[in-house]
Amino acid sequence: MKYANWNNELGNPEWFLHDRFGMFIHFGLFSLAARHEWLMTTEQISPEDYQKYFEHFNPELIDMKTLAKTAKETGMKYAVLTTKHHEGFALWDTDYSDYKITNTQFKRDLVQEFIEAFRAEGIKIGLYHSLIDWHHEDFTIDGLHPQRDDEEYRKSNNTRKMEAYLDYLKNQVTELLTNYGKVDYFWFDFSYGHRDWEWSKGKGKNEWKSEEILDLVTKLQPDILVNDRLDLGLGVVTPEQYQPEKPLVKDGQPVIWEACQAMKPTWGYDRDAKDWKSSEVLLKMLIETVSNNGNFLLNVGPNAKGELDKREESRLNDIGDWMKRNSKSLYGAGQSPFTVPKDCRYTQVGSNKLYLHIYSWPLRHIHLQGLAGRVQYAQFLHDHSQVFFREFDPEEVITSTETHIDEDSVVLELPIEKPEVLVPVVEIFLKDGENEIKI
Ligand code: GLC
Repeated sequence: MKYANWNNELGNPEWFLHDRFGMFIHFGLFSLAARHEWLMTTEQISPEDYQKYFEHFNPELIDMKTLAKTAKETGMKYAVLTTKHHEGFALWDTDYSDYKITNTQFKRDLVQEFIEAFRAEGIKIGLYHSLIDWHHEDFTIDGLHPQRDDEEYRKSNNTRKMEAYLDYLKNQVTELLTNYGKVDYFWFDFSYGHRDWEWSKGKGKNEWKSEEILDLVTKLQPDILVNDRLDLGLGVVTPEQYQPEKPLVKDGQPVIWEACQAMKPTWGYDRDAKDWKSSEVLLKMLIETVSNNGNFLLNVGPNAKGELDKREESRLNDIGDWMKRNSKSLYGAGQSPFTVPKDCRYTQVGSNKLYLHIYSWPLRHIHLQGLAGRVQYAQFLHDHSQVFFREFDPEEVITSTETHIDEDSVVLELPIEKPEVLVPVVEIFLKDGENEIKI
């Protein structure tokens, strides 16, 4: 399959397209502030004032082994950890900065612990790395920078050397892709070359020298996947915090894409957050994404003590409970060529496994258009109980108490009561034939 945003510079995306579902982990000094991972710039905090979070950083209860088990039980097949967010704080023992986790009272290399724990659970390793660095003295001040309104700081642009920052960036990326074994996915964040504040412009592929960064990454780890935020039009396209309603294509060609979603508006731990997405909404986003050939990266933001927010934990439990019985409808699945019934989503695996996800429970019948003659058996995925279906029979007299059946359709006969499942799924076994999908 040819993808508009992929070429042989990048690793083989097969595992990614099969696994579909990952955990995003946002953790850093911003977790102590507990209100937004962008607070350094939204509250225009100077590095000097931000130092209090460094001094008090001590996630004494963090346990990557427990978090890895939680991810596994939730059905997540890969995980992406913030190694450095825009605040510039390194979660590993870097040689290129003192602004690192091993210089805090916590002392431990969390990237190392994350990789060991998640790899031990058979979960593929992704590393998030911010191109932006509001702490580094050579990162030039622009319209997004915390000190954008500070005349003195803005003057320092005359002495700030972006080249030196890019060397620093490449050295830290080299450390992450050299010292910790195989890394499966590198998640850069983010380019904003289109921005223009008159006194300064945004930073995109030219300012990052993105081609050099991509060459470095693929030289160090030839099988690695990357996302599209180097602004090169290459890599996994990463819509965030909205729900694409159809497969993403570019110039008529399919695109490899991954929706990244937080359970609330922010990514880091946010004690007073409102607008939490329910378990049902999150699960329907996951299903909808896969039905449109996408991956789903669901975020958690451990608190500064190192534990998951109880509201995140309960949602992961609900999704894991569903995945335990229904994940076959998502792994290796993609868009089905068949017309989907209303209030439902199809996914399809190969040419003869069709999965009907029922979003609102109907009265007794769901009509499957275009499936006449193609269905050999149907069952609920959660308990493998048989689901009866009927087809058009010219001999049959349909009375006023029976549903009408179109000649090209199959009608599923469902129980009146919705099964105790967040989103019930009917597994439909298709006869071999022209049911091919393209994921
Ligand atoms: C956006 C947010 C950033 C977050 C990222 C995750 O870039 O600004 O804070 O880490 O999305 O996708």
